[in-house]
Amino acid sequence: MLSGKRVLLIIGGGIAAYKCLDLIRRLKERGAAVTPVMTRAAGEFVTPLSVSALAGEKVYTDLFDLTDEAEMGHIQLSRVADLVLVAPATADLMAKMANGFASDMATTLLLATDTPVMMAPAMNVRMWEHPATQRNLAVLRGDGVAVVGPNDGDMACGEFGPGRMAEPLEIVDAVIGAVAAGPLSGKRIVVTSGPTHEPIDPVRYIANRSSGAQGTAIAAALRALGAEVVFVTGPAEVSPPDGVEVVPVETAQQMRDAVHAALPADAAVFAAAVADWKVVGASDSKIKKQAGQLPTLSFEENPDILAEVSQMADGRPGLVVGFAAETDDVVANATAKRQRKGCDWIVANDVSPATGIMGGSENAVTVISDSGAEGWPRMGKDAVARQLAARIADALV
Ligand code: C5P
Repeated sequence: MLSGKRVLLIIGGGIAAYKCLDLIRRLKERGAAVTPVMTRAAGEFVTPLSVSALAGEKVYTDLFDLTDEAEMGHIQLSRVADLVLVAPATADLMAKMANGFASDMATTLLLATDTPVMMAPAMNVRMWEHPATQRNLAVLRGDGVAVVGPNDGDMACGEFGPGRMAEPLEIVDAVIGAVAAGPLSGKRIVVTSGPTHEPIDPVRYIANRSSGAQGTAIAAALRALGAEVVFVTGPAEVSPPDGVEVVPVETAQQMRDAVHAALPADAAVFAAAVADWKVVGASDSKIKKQAGQLPTLSFEENPDILAEVSQMADGRPGLVVGFAAETDDVVANATAKRQRKGCDWIVANDVSPATGIMGGSENAVTVISDSGAEGWPRMGKDAVARQLAARIADALV
C-alpha cells in the first residue's frame, strides 16, 4: 500500500514518542521507507538506537552535522520524502511550526520542505485546550498541515481528555489517505452530513438529534480511498474530517444550494438528517413572550435534496446513495423510499431510541439496491463507513 513511498518522520519530545517505535514498524510493514529525525527532547523518551534499528536507517538529530550537510543537506532531506510526518507534535513543536522557527534540525526541515506535512499532536489536555495551542493549530491547518488526532483518553500525567496521540494504526491510515493512490483517486464525491437548523427567529430553531458521526466517518473513509470529497455539513457535534473540502451550512435550503454548487460529481452520498419542514416566515427579530398567548408556527416543505439530485436529467452523479432513518418497518419503508426518490442505494437503519444508534457510536444498517436488501451486522460507525466506501469504490471503477 505504501511501497515506494518515503515518510520523513519527525519525532517530538513527549511521552507519546514511545508509540513511534510501533508507528515505524507499521509504516514499514506496509512498504514505506522511513527516515527518522529526532528533536533533542525526543532523545529523552526514546533512544536513537532503537529508532534507527526499527527504521533500518540513520537517525538525523543535529542541524549542524557537517558530515550530513556534505552527504545530504537538510533541504534535500525534507524534499525527497512523499510526506513529512510529525509525531508526536508537542505544544512546543506546534508553536515553532506555526511561527516559522528554524532553531534545530526538525524545525529547519519543516520550514524548508515543499512536501505535504501531517502532524499527530500529543500533549496534556490543558496545553491542548490552551488558546495559544488552538491558535497555532488554526494557523497550521490554514498552512495546509493535515492533523490526525489527538484522541480523548487517560493521559500519562493522570488527567483525562483530548491530548492523547492518535494510535499508530490511525496515523498509518491517515498517511495512506495522504500519499497512496487509492481506488477512488480522481473521483469527486459529495457527502452531506449532520442535522439542519431551521430558524424560528434569530435565537430559536428546529433541529434533530443527528450528531453527524456517520456522515463524517463516510467522508473520511472515502478520502482514505483517495476520493476528492466535498463535505457539506450542517451544525454537527463531531468535527469534520481532515483532507476534505468542508462547506458548513445551517438550513436545508443552504445545504441544497451547496450540493448543487459542488456538482458535477462522480457520486453523492446523502447522510444528512435534513429537516423536512421549515418555518414559514421565520421572524427577523426575537419573538416576544406575551402572557397568555402562544405563538403559532406554520410550516412548509424543504427541498428534498436527495430526490432532486437523483432525478436530475442532466449531470446526475453516476451513483446516488441516500439514507433512511426509520423507526418502523425499516426495510419496507426504505425500499419504498428508494423508489420514490430515485436514488441507486438506500442505507437504512432503525433509529428507535432503544437501539441507541442516533447519536451513538454504532450502527446496524441494511443496504438496499436493485439487487435487494442486504443486512449488515451491527458495527462501529467507522466500520460501516469503511465498508460502504469500499462498495462505492467497486461501483465506480
Ligand atoms: O425523506 P427522508 O428524510 O426520510 O429521506 C432521507 C434521505 O433523504 C437521506 O438520505 C437524507 O439525507 C435525504 N434528504 C434530503 N433532503 C431532504 C430530506 C431528506 O436530501 N429535504
